Amino acid sequence: MSESEVRAAVERELPGVRADLERLVRIPGIAFEGFDHSHVEGSAEAVAELVRGCGLDVKIVRSGGQPAVIGRKAALPGAPTVLLYAHHDVQPVGDLTLWESDPFEPVERDGRLYGRGAADDKAGIMAHVAALRAYGDALPVGVVLFVEGEEEYGSDSLERLLAEHRDEIASDVIVIADSTNWDIGVPALTTSLRGIVNCFVEVRTLDHAVHSGVYGGPVPDALTALARLLATLHTEAGDVAVDGLVAREGASVDYPEDRFRAEAGLAEGVSLIGTGRITERLWTKPALAVLGIDAPSTAEAPNALVPAARAKLSVRLAPGDDPKRAYAALRAHLEKHAPWGARVTVVFEHDGAPCVIDASGPMFDAARSAFRTAWDGTDPVDLGIGGSIPFIATFQEMFPRAAILVTGVEDPQARAHGPNESLHLGEFARVCLAEALLLKKVAEAGVDGR
Ligand code: BES
Ligand code: MN
Repeated sequence: MSESEVRAAVERELPGVRADLERLVRIPGIAFEGFDHSHVEGSAEAVAELVRGCGLDVKIVRSGGQPAVIGRKAALPGAPTVLLYAHHDVQPVGDLTLWESDPFEPVERDGRLYGRGAADDKAGIMAHVAALRAYGDALPVGVVLFVEGEEEYGSDSLERLLAEHRDEIASDVIVIADSTNWDIGVPALTTSLRGIVNCFVEVRTLDHAVHSGVYGGPVPDALTALARLLATLHTEAGDVAVDGLVAREGASVDYPEDRFRAEAGLAEGVSLIGTGRITERLWTKPALAVLGIDAPSTAEAPNALVPAARAKLSVRLAPGDDPKRAYAALRAHLEKHAPWGARVTVVFEHDGAPCVIDASGPMFDAARSAFRTAWDGTDPVDLGIGGSIPFIATFQEMFPRAAILVTGVEDPQARAHGPNESLHLGEFARVCLAEALLLKKVAEAGVDGR
């Protein structure tokens, strides 16, 4: 198919793709513990049906976790095989009162489609489907569609699934549609992602709660002790103060402070913390946040000294850091800084590896050219991402020769994981076209183009 035929074919498919995206958004498939997993099963089945409709051989697989969908269509002799990744599970919706419309009833407002998963990552699935539908029987490459069902819950069984199906998924190019573009109208290729370590830290100062008037003064309460411990985690300037974490120099992308403040929704007058360029602080330096605290709620707190308090910490790791080593460094810091001899216990939750992608070579050229065409001449930006997709490192180890293209449907207003998540429909049309063009250009580059 010529470029203009591909363009027309994608155009033709978009209404159906949009309708199927809405069908997927209506399925509340959340892989987190405590949620009704029958919906994840239902969403795997819905995805399997869509993929079957594209003429692929499809099966639903699992390895102790949530169901993933694998669809395959063999390459013609000499043509490369492309693995297309997305995930069909979504984040929980959180406080429903913060949503302007039902998270599982997709609605369009001002050119955006609102709903949980409308962007992250059901639109990623549908971008793959759009490209496949555009070609029909004339697909120029072999494809392996891999849609997992527990990405938002840490992809615990993904490594096993990949190992068990290694030969079926082996490919020359891997497209991971789970990231973001740089801005509306500006595409991007993601070339580095941070890693992550989450843990709990408990501080105990007393065997049991005691009267705050009778004992207060000499006895430290656990919540104050925890606050002092947490205060040691950053320097005065706001850099992470834990020794032993990797920090690297950033890319040259300019992220103007005004734009960053607006996109983050930073309250008026609040300083940015840390040092170095904004992109460095976001992409190539570690970040540490307190995600939650277990302590008496203010509504129920009696006049008593709190005996124990717990915080959940999350560290984002620079590309090049090692999650196990980073956890050891954090744990050592917490134990060493126990205030007033308080008993500090650190419990690991989960981690994920960072990664860096060498985005050079014919497949990356093919991708950049496809993006440029789909965005009417605008070149894609090479981005780092502060978030994590830990299994990219696994793909790199398993398929060291494959080119890994990290693309995505999000834009800075997508609010993935938050209330009122949405997809920019105009950008989504470009993403679908870019992916269809990418398959054509990858086929032209050939198997030796890796
Ligand atoms: N799609 C995100 C990662 C991402 C975020 C890419 C923003 C581009 C822009 C992914 O689904 C995600 O949220 N990952 C988790 C990883 C965790 C569950 C191990 C994250 O970063 O918190
Ligand atoms: Mn995602």
